[in-house]
Amino acid sequence: MKKIAIVHGPNLNILGWREPEIYGHQTMEHINTKLKIMADEKQVKSTFFQSNSEGELIAYFQMLIQDAEPTHFIIFNPAAFTHSSIALRDTLQAVSIPFIEVHLSNIHAREVFRHHSYFSDIAQGVISGLGALGYELALLAALHYLNSKGV
Ligand code: DQA
Repeated sequence: MKKIAIVHGPNLNILGWREPEIYGHQTMEHINTKLKIMADEKQVKSTFFQSNSEGELIAYFQMLIQDAEPTHFIIFNPAAFTHSSIALRDTLQAVSIPFIEVHLSNIHAREVFRHHSYFSDIAQGVISGLGALGYELALLAALHYLNSKGV
């Protein structure tokens, strides 16, 4: 069975009340519920993880390749670690699971320090600025990618 991991970085657990004018009103639970329904419809297994800690995110990605059930794709919003974490980049390169980088806001239309991502050049694709819809589009793209690879 195909398996996709949806991973959220720091402060995404407080979506809903966190700067709603930037990040919208949907909570992370709403986003995850929608993704699970979509994945279930396609008979794809989905797993969900959020952490505010860089070390926990690294440990989670490392665990994915030790798991008996392989993970075929990752949808990842690295949040603020987008702009700072060479360590997480190294982990994603090491585990070598294809991923799409998602941002709710358009990071290129915001402060200059958000314009650079440590992930974009190693991602299959990047979706930024489409709000919660971006996660759904990422899931569709992930399914398309896996079908095209015959997974
Ligand atoms: C974010 C954008 C980042 O710059 C920010 O630090 C976040 C969320 C987004 O989804 O728009 O926490 O990744």
